[in-house]
Amino acid sequence: MSDVHGNVDALRAVLAEVDRLGCSRILNLGDHASGPLAAAETLDVLMARDDMVSVRGNHDRYLLKPPETLGPSDAVAAAQLTDAHMEWLAALPTTALVDDVFLCHGTPDSDETYWLHDVTPRGDLVDRSGPTVAALAATAPIEAQVLLCGHTHLPRIVQLSNGAVMLNPGSVGLPAYDDVTPVPHVVQSGDPAARFAMMERRSRGWDLSLHRVAYDASRMVALAQAHNRPDWAHPLQTGWFDS
Ligand SMILES: [Fe+2]
Repeated sequence: MSDVHGNVDALRAVLAEVDRLGCSRILNLGDHASGPLAAAETLDVLMARDDMVSVRGNHDRYLLKPPETLGPSDAVAAAQLTDAHMEWLAALPTTALVDDVFLCHGTPDSDETYWLHDVTPRGDLVDRSGPTVAALAATAPIEAQVLLCGHTHLPRIVQLSNGAVMLNPGSVGLPAYDDVTPVPHVVQSGDPAARFAMMERRSRGWDLSLHRVAYDASRMVALAQAHNRPDWAHPLQTGWFDS
């Protein structure tokens, strides 16, 4: 799973499904708390799981910066967090290798770079080419058979030319957003449901499946509206950033 972004109701729905499926381990790709939602409640849930390996996202890193430097979404989250929450975030690794599965938030070298997508100079989001995806994998551990990333909030699975498989599970808690880097652009899954992926090791290799979990977003929508963030409330309701 990835990109919970403080949406604890989506997180609880995903965890209930993960537990129902009987998953032995959870891999969490970061951006856990940032957003005008329920940051502290989210970290309380995540920190209570002893079956989870987590890495740090760019917004987890931002939350550790001085409060006066934070953007509006990070600032609301940071104000909710305790010292224990901050210590948990600060202790997260930027990448991890679990058996033959590699975890990172953006790419192996950057928590701010999209791995499976690119933004054109006009601000259009496009799929990256196979060679470019493979080039960004160059510094991942050679033994990794599955490479996991988050950050774009868009579910996608591709296979690299060396046979390794790349997976972005999509976002648990925020299905659409806008950003200004590298140029202004919008990312939208078009689906308000919570997303995660399941991995099953078979004798023939890894089976991967993308999952969609419907949940009641009304409390999170109300929190976004209470913080005067229609740019969060509308995506949480619809999956789209545009009207
Ligand atoms: Fe994110």
